[in-house]
Amino acid sequence: MDRIIIRGGRPLEGRLPISGAKNSALTLLPCALLTDEPLTIRNLPRLADVDSFGHLLNQLGVSTTIEGTKPEEFGRVMTMRATSLTATMAPYDIVRKMRASILVLGPILARAGEATVSLPGGCAIGNRPIDLHLKALEAMGARLEMSAGYVRAIAPGGRLPGGTVKFPIVSVGATENALMAAATARGRTVIENAAREPEIVDLCRCLQRMGAKIDGVGTSTLTIDGVKELHGATYAVMPDRIEAGSYACAVGITGGRLELEGARADEMQATIAGLREAGVEVEERENGLLVSATGELKPLTLSTDPYPGFATDMQAQFMAMLTRAHGSSVLTETIFENRYMHVPELSRMGADIQVKGRTAVVHGVEQLNGAPVMATDLRASMSLIIAGLAAKGETQVNRVYHLDRGYERLEEKLSAVGADIERDSDG
Ligand code: UD1
Repeated sequence: MDRIIIRGGRPLEGRLPISGAKNSALTLLPCALLTDEPLTIRNLPRLADVDSFGHLLNQLGVSTTIEGTKPEEFGRVMTMRATSLTATMAPYDIVRKMRASILVLGPILARAGEATVSLPGGCAIGNRPIDLHLKALEAMGARLEMSAGYVRAIAPGGRLPGGTVKFPIVSVGATENALMAAATARGRTVIENAAREPEIVDLCRCLQRMGAKIDGVGTSTLTIDGVKELHGATYAVMPDRIEAGSYACAVGITGGRLELEGARADEMQATIAGLREAGVEVEERENGLLVSATGELKPLTLSTDPYPGFATDMQAQFMAMLTRAHGSSVLTETIFENRYMHVPELSRMGADIQVKGRTAVVHGVEQLNGAPVMATDLRASMSLIIAGLAAKGETQVNRVYHLDRGYERLEEKLSAVGADIERDSDG
């Protein structure tokens, strides 16, 4: 199994291109199910999750063609066409490996009048149910049947009537499923307490380009007037704000100066505020962000929240950075339980962190030391990379497949800006 080897202690310096956002790509791809015309998605990151999603779409009858950007270029172009659906089910095997595959539920239901998906089961970052996805579809007129670990959603008469969806808590995925299902419903759907993440805005814009009628984009109340059919379109994935934030944390801990090409400040306000408070300089540039740091960090108090709050997907990377701050930081995770699995691994590298319930207190230390480590989810794995970049000696990050799910050519990007990092494929 591959592993990544880092010899830490080098400042990062130079230009680093930010890829298309994983979480946006994963909600734009299922839009192809909503029309019999081609949907072309540009700026698609080369990631294992994107490939897996493509395979799932193939199984449902969607043809996919990837236009060949050269290996040295970033951002692929994928054209998908669902002339007709050949299956209406997302099986356990796929949903278990990639939770985002639940995002086919809404569009299949809208297109075929019925859809079956496996219930996802447990997940490394806690119990992540899909009750909100199901309640939303029910509020829009779907009938649900559960059996043997699967849920089947049926639209009476083949088309959902639409309705009012009131989310008790903010859910990105459930908002996305509801939006896609509502686009071709018979009537109006109102989604209250909708997620406002930039990836939701990206989804709305893509659906609008396909002919959907959506009001309130970017707010917590979305009104969708269903149209009879959607048409083909071309749409470019937004830059990955989490990838950009992760590399900014890397500069924070190593010191140096990185130009994050393509990163958009307006979608990263909470991350930028946190970086600045910690003593990392962030400047807005025409085509990206300039991040610079001396390696001297101040402690922070942070709590994760739905957008525009501080993203749960940035918590682990900030924690890694703050292990070297002068003083004690307090981080509170409010979105997911079990999202501190990087803590014992960071501790093995010399970090001083105490977790009590949902709160972690990080006492800054003078120095981290390299060690063999591994993590059980994507962002936790990135926190170990960040720690490794600053640690003394060699860090081996195992279970690289987590990183390959969400960071395009991580070791290539980091070594191009001065890190001593490589992939060991025989490990
Ligand atoms: C998405 C992102 C993920 C990010 C998360 C929160 C993708 C592919 N993934 O995940 O990277 O960390 O948003 O920003 O875009 N919940 C329920 N019932 C449900 C659905 C969710 O109780 O039916 C709970 C979850 O357990 C969690 C909270 O709602 O506590 C928010 O989860 P949600 O926003 O749905 O996360 P995802 O869409 O899975």
